[in-house]
Formats: sequence, C-alpha cells, structure tokens
Amino acid sequence: MSQDKLIIFDTTLRDGEQSPGASMTREEKIRIAKALEKMRVDVIEAGFPIASPGDFEAVRAVAESVKDSTVCGLARALDKDIDRACEALRGANSARIHTFIATSPIHMKMKLRMEPDQVVEQAVRAVKRARQHTDNVEFSPEDAGRSEIDFLCRIIEAVIDAGAGTINIPDTVGYNVPAQFGDLIRTLIERVPNADKAVFSVHCHNDLGLAVANSLSAVMNGARQVECTINGLGERAGNAALEEIVMAVRTRQDIFPCNVDLDTTQIVPCSRLVSGITGFVVQPNKAIVGANAFAHESGIHQDGVLKSRETYEIMQAQDVGWSANRIVLGKHSGRNAFRSRMHELGMEFESEEALNEAFARFKDLADKKHEIYDEDLQAIVTEANLEAINERYKLVALRVCSETGETPRADIALAIDGKEYKASETGGGPVDAAFRAIESIVNSGTELQLYSVNNITSGTDAQGEVTVRLERAGRIVNGQGADTDIVIASAKAYLNALNKVMEPGEREHPQLGDV
Ligand code: KIV
Ligand code: ZN
Repeated sequence: MSQDKLIIFDTTLRDGEQSPGASMTREEKIRIAKALEKMRVDVIEAGFPIASPGDFEAVRAVAESVKDSTVCGLARALDKDIDRACEALRGANSARIHTFIATSPIHMKMKLRMEPDQVVEQAVRAVKRARQHTDNVEFSPEDAGRSEIDFLCRIIEAVIDAGAGTINIPDTVGYNVPAQFGDLIRTLIERVPNADKAVFSVHCHNDLGLAVANSLSAVMNGARQVECTINGLGERAGNAALEEIVMAVRTRQDIFPCNVDLDTTQIVPCSRLVSGITGFVVQPNKAIVGANAFAHESGIHQDGVLKSRETYEIMQAQDVGWSANRIVLGKHSGRNAFRSRMHELGMEFESEEALNEAFARFKDLADKKHEIYDEDLQAIVTEANLEAINERYKLVALRVCSETGETPRADIALAIDGKEYKASETGGGPVDAAFRAIESIVNSGTELQLYSVNNITSGTDAQGEVTVRLERAGRIVNGQGADTDIVIASAKAYLNALNKVMEPGEREHPQLGDV
C-alpha cells in the first residue's frame, strides 16, 4: 500500500473562531498557533485578514511567530481581500492564500446573484491575482457539497489552469453522507482533466454529525488534505475534529492509503488550550480528548485491560498526550522547577518579569491547594494572559455571604479604567448576587446566555474554571475565570466577558459578505 502523506490543515483560528462566542485575541491566537506548530500541523489557517483590523493584525502576528508550518489567510474571490491577505502574510516563512466563491445553484442565485459564467470568471481572476503574490494558492468552491458536478468540474479545471495547487471541496452546510461524499471526490479526481496538478482537500461541517466520517471517506477516495479544527470547534455543530481524523488514520494504517506526520502527544495539551481560551468545554465522552475517552469503567473491561491492554484498547492514552493526573509541583517547588515544567508544557515567558508574575500566582495557588497539576499550571498562564489583556474592568475585591435561610449577598469592588467603584447586591445565590453587583456598577445591557463551571483537576480543593457567555446587540462572547473559590472564578469570568463584549469593533463574516 502506498504511503502518501495526508496534509493536515487546521482551521481552528479561522472557521473555529467563526463559532459564536469563540473569538480570540491576537495573543491567544499566537499561543494556539504555536501549539499547532509544536504538533507539526502542516497548514494553519490563521484568519480572514480583511474582516477587521484586529483580524489582520492577528494573522500578521501568527505569520511572524510560526516558522515550521505554512500559514494561510482566507480571502473571498475579490482583489481587495486577496491583497489584504497577502499583506498580512508577508512575514511568513511559508504562506498560502485560500480564496473561495460559492458554486451551488442556491448560493449563486440567492447570495451572489451571479450567473455561473461570472462565477468561473471571478474565481479564475482571484486565483491569478493570488498567484502574483505566492505560488501556494488554494481554491474552494463554497457549498461544493450541494453544487452540480458538471459545473464543479468546469470551475476546478479552470482554477487549476490559473495556478491553484490545492482544490478544497467544502461541505459547507454539512449535508453530505460518507459514501456519496467519497464518490464525489473520486469522480472529481477522475473527471477533471488536470486533476493531477493539484492536491484535493476536503472541509466538512458537522450538521448531521458526519464531518469526520465524510472526511475519512474522501481520504479513501483520493483526498490528500483534510481541513479540521481542534475539538471540532466551529459554527453550528462544528467542523471535522482534527484529533479524530489524525488518530483514525494513524490507528487504521491497515486501511488508509496515507499517513500523517504529526506529534500526536500534543493533541490533549492543544485541546485543553483551545477549550480554555474559547470556553468551549469538551464533553467527557468526546473521542480522543474527552475526560472519559480512555477510562475503562466496567469490571469486564478493567479485567481485560489488566490481562492484556489490547483486549479493549485500540490506542494508548499517552500517545495522544494524556498523562495521569500527576502532582508536578508543590508549595516548596522553586522558580527553576516551575520554569522547567512550564517549558516542558510548551509555555515560555517573554520576560523575567512575566516569569516572576506567573511564579507569584503559582505560589499563591500552592498555598491554597497543596498539589499542583499540569492543568493548574495551564490555568495560571491563561489567567495571567487574560488579565494582561483585559484592562478595562478588573476585580479588586469580592465578599459574599451565604447562609441557610438568608438571602445571599455580595459586596464587590471593581476598577474601571483604573478608578474604583463599590456595590452590594442580593441574589438567588452567591454567584447571582455577585453578577448583580457587577451589573449595578457597569449597567452593560448584556444578556447572560450561558454559565458553566468545571473543575480543572479532581478533589474539593481543585480550581473551578467558569465560562460565562454574554450577548450584547447581537454580539456574543465567552469569558473565562479560574480560582479555587468558584464565586471569585465566576466574577472573573463575568468581567472577562464584559471586557470582550464592551470592546468596539465589528468584523465581517467571510461567508455572509458581498462578492
Ligand atoms: O465551510 C466553508 O465552505 C468554508 C469555506 C470558506 C472553505 O469555510
Ligand atoms: Zn467552513
């Protein structure tokens, strides 16, 4: 069986970020991009540079920070989008432009209001323009999964002639099913006369829960690039999950005609990083990265696994980066031990000052919680980054009073742009009282859409990680906070979300904008 390489194209920072509430700051994007690079992902789609100045800056920063992976920018089939993407990618060691235009009858008629001939002409023009900047150009016929096969063959042949080296077939609305999607890929590769001059790629959405199955079926039928996201993050039901694609191909080498070249031990740390930054919690039974993915609960399974691991295990937990909850540091650990464990976890400090600041947080935590795990260290860095970015609203002090038979009450002190404000409120519970106290000062006009608490490690002294989702004038953001006291963690998460939602700056959605 031939051993082609399957190119892993990660779009967590672009399509993943299109998920409501998943928007990330430039620093957060850099951290995720570095983790993806460490995992040896081939291509990182860093964003849609024309969407807003913030998106442009984030793509530029990722392009400058990442050295080993190709960095890609998305552009509609428009000169201004392509030029902006090229500008953002200028600092990259290896850059790719990804341009797209819709090709399904419904999208061409209702969204673009264009005739098929015009769509082909615009696609060809866009690819030629992108080729003036780089020889690494990808083209996607958006909503390919509902496009007519003859038209797809025609536009794909034309863009390959114009210089596109990767042809990505998106199932934009998650409508396809595995056997049919695999057939589509095989038919395109067979029918497009110059198909041998391009790599065929797939990009599947999960509306019917089939994104991974469709992607793998495409791989069996000739696709050699898969577009995916960490934890399957993405709009609506999400995109194909990177960890599932990679581990399926690696585990079933007896059937896949290709392999991946990734450091799979980075999967779990990367999954945690993305869920910590976005606040999208990973369900416990999620394949590969869920907390229960390798837990053998039933007696029969445990007995079998103890006699011979292969009786019930098809992969090893440590191969995807699970380490048993190990106590890594404690109250008496010094600065060097702290720095070196952080280094092993892929977390570097920009300055001695940043290291000292994180070390002080670690010491504080170690006073409250004697055993410090890797997950705690990750939370310390996430917290420090959040505070460094979110300057407008800061928690100064919080006191809550909760007693049987009494109405819970919160007294809060906040700093807004450096000036201190105080308020006291009662509520249905201590968290409700704390949120009401914040609102009595800020009066944000936001609506709470989601509140969730997870423990970072086990035990009653574990840190609670809280996610708060707020909506304001159609804009949705997630905020996070962590603390051994979950009411304080909740107030931090609420303020983190407020800092994001009150920030000005709308961005364009690539698939809703005019072409
Ligand atoms: O789902 C989709 O069609 C996309 C394209 C921009 C590739 O995300
Ligand atoms: Zn998509």
